[in-house]
Amino acid sequence: MKRIFTLFVALATACVAMAAECVIVPRPVSYEPQKGKVTLNSKSVVYVADKSLVRPATLFCSYVAAEKGLQLSVVENQPKVKGVIALSIDKSLAQEEYLLDVTKQGIVIKGGSEKGVFYGLQSLRQVVFHSKGNAKKVAVECMTVKDKPHFGYRGGMFDVCRHIFSVDEVKKFIDILALHKINRFHWHLTEDQGWRIEIKKYPNLTKIGSVRKATQVGRYSRRTQPVYDGKPYGGFFTQDEVRDIVRYASERYIDVIPEIDMPGHMIAALASYPELGCTKGPYEVRKMWGISQDILCAGRESTFEFIEGVLSEIVALFPSKYIHIGGDEAPKHRWKVCPDCQKRIQEEGLKDEHELQSYFMKRVEKFLAQYGRSIIGWDEILDGGVSKTATVMAWRGPNRGIMAAKLGNKVIMTPTRFCYLDYCQTSDPDANKEPMAISMKARLSVRKVYSLDPYDQLNEEERKAIIGVQGNLWTEYIPNFNHAQHMLLPRLAAIAEVGWSYGNKDYDDFSRRMHLLRKLYDKCGYNYAPYFFNGVE
Ligand code: ACM
Ligand code: ZN
Repeated sequence: MKRIFTLFVALATACVAMAAECVIVPRPVSYEPQKGKVTLNSKSVVYVADKSLVRPATLFCSYVAAEKGLQLSVVENQPKVKGVIALSIDKSLAQEEYLLDVTKQGIVIKGGSEKGVFYGLQSLRQVVFHSKGNAKKVAVECMTVKDKPHFGYRGGMFDVCRHIFSVDEVKKFIDILALHKINRFHWHLTEDQGWRIEIKKYPNLTKIGSVRKATQVGRYSRRTQPVYDGKPYGGFFTQDEVRDIVRYASERYIDVIPEIDMPGHMIAALASYPELGCTKGPYEVRKMWGISQDILCAGRESTFEFIEGVLSEIVALFPSKYIHIGGDEAPKHRWKVCPDCQKRIQEEGLKDEHELQSYFMKRVEKFLAQYGRSIIGWDEILDGGVSKTATVMAWRGPNRGIMAAKLGNKVIMTPTRFCYLDYCQTSDPDANKEPMAISMKARLSVRKVYSLDPYDQLNEEERKAIIGVQGNLWTEYIPNFNHAQHMLLPRLAAIAEVGWSYGNKDYDDFSRRMHLLRKLYDKCGYNYAPYFFNGVE
């Protein structure tokens, strides 16, 4: 049955160009095909009414040149020739909103800001790619598109700690986000298994903390003795490389949100500066996956001096309004027996170690507020009491997001069952053919991702708390970028459509458009997973 459906989708796809059905992913708010076509050729220009649009226009030209072979040029003076793509800003539109009008006389994109124009260009990029023609002449069907995203926060997270990726690969990850109109890159930079960002004040973080002596082979289990490969593994991003990546993302209208995960997931930092831990070590950068019992000591002032030193450099590198400070999976065993942590609990009148973590997070939040920054934390920050101004990233289940929304906190939905892209993708008995994933049991198909309702169980008022959704790519079992793309695509497209097109979703129509987008993935050389396209869920 699934295969018959696939055949149907393939046939429907073949007819699309004739019927001028919508080809855009994520699905726009409204799409109306119009009669006629406009022809683009190498004399066609992209006219920018505002200097700030030169950059997105130039980027658009590079997409069309690479994907269609057609060379367009950008001009700043109103041209007289036909086949013009005219870009302008219309302040009556919302910032991320755009209008795309393809008429026989030419193409017009108006955006509420540069960003809105960029999204219009991303849509036009897909339309041009699927249009008939070649490097000399492309015939674009007339259409009217009115579009804006439902959610303001649409994110993709990449863990570069369990495995590291090159600057070019991180940029390719950002390219993939941009194609899907995702506007936040959550960059997970610190972990038990490796500290991946240069901090000038604390050179040991990269000298010692960025290298583990070996890596676990096979799957992690608390019950079995780990086997290691015996090979040192490491690397980090210099501050110059970080600035380069932040600039690259900003040119694609993507904010980079750095995550410095605390007080847990800090073994690499403890190995570098053992006095930061309750027992003062010795510690070593973790070679196996899973969670460490050792976390930052919350009793000593020197821990906060360290965190503030690190974050001072982080805010200088990342202009993002949000800084992610983790908060997940911080076992309290050490704090329970640490005299300094217990003294802090007493002096601050805290009830228990969960309240101590709450004290920790609130103190760091206050520090970042001096720089005008807001914090995001994983949903564990709810446990000992959360400040009203923290944004909660709900990962353990939608119920954690619902809980936070009812408290009045802002929420980003990224529940494992819908958004964890390190899970296998099929429930097919042959799924063992899939590359190793975090669990062979937990499975997450494209359809399942698409079915996420971030507003489930929330009333009208509570819904205002949900600012968006995010797909997460943890990399314990993802040693290279080819594999990372296999996990990311096409599921990221489903995340993007939940985030952009909420209230306007249609899975069958999504499948039809995805069979087209697949061709663009091929053209860009992206390594997507084949299951969904082969009708296997
Ligand atoms: C998480 O997956 N530990 C946030
Ligand atoms: Zn302690």
